[in-house]
Amino acid sequence: MALIAPSLLSSDFLHLADICTMINESEADWLHLDVMDGSFVPNISFGIPIVKEICKSTKKPCDVHLMIVQPDRYIDVFHQAGANILTVHLEACTHLHRTVQHIKSLGMKAGVAINPHTPIEMLADIITAIDVVCVMSVNPGFGGQQFIPQTLKKIERLKKLILLSSSKTIIEVDGGVSLENASTILSVGADVLVVGSAIFNSSDPKKSIHKLKNLVQYV
Ligand code: DX5
Ligand code: ZN
Repeated sequence: MALIAPSLLSSDFLHLADICTMINESEADWLHLDVMDGSFVPNISFGIPIVKEICKSTKKPCDVHLMIVQPDRYIDVFHQAGANILTVHLEACTHLHRTVQHIKSLGMKAGVAINPHTPIEMLADIITAIDVVCVMSVNPGFGGQQFIPQTLKKIERLKKLILLSSSKTIIEVDGGVSLENASTILSVGADVLVVGSAIFNSSDPKKSIHKLKNLVQYV
């Protein structure tokens, strides 16, 4: 069954404690936290102190998505802040293999995110070392954008690469995921759906999580 990772980016930051309670009581599998530095992406979200408080308040694994330059400088601090899965961008790493090993040496799952323009083939020689590939289905930086349809073909190719390499890597899809397209995204091989605005802009976020978790899969 697919894992659902609500992204807090589209939530009401004045009520983060209530939102953590809702997530704890919901069928969400992970909690997705988007850290943006205004340099790798043209937006600034929240940083270490907020991540730390949220990780303390949630019972779900914290999936921290670093949209920052030089992520190596912050691996230890996000570990101390409570990240369980730490994702860096391939485009921000010169020595991706070293970065992935560093994340795993601290006991976290290592995630690698790829932007829409980055071919999945860039991961061919490192796929067995990666726990989670985060396929960006929008240009990172903002919630509420439209899913880029070409992502479906990328997910299919990535799934084949993973199967051929006999690795246990899982595929996370991030950006523009909604109740309308979730089944299709799962049918081509996604394992984890990150969902922001489709949950937090809905009238009943907990119910939206329930609906996403209980989709009729494989349309
Ligand atoms: C975008 C972020 C996403 C974002 C998804 O850069 O990485 O996690 O919050 O939001 P929606 O689901 O609204 O596209
Ligand atoms: Zn994200």
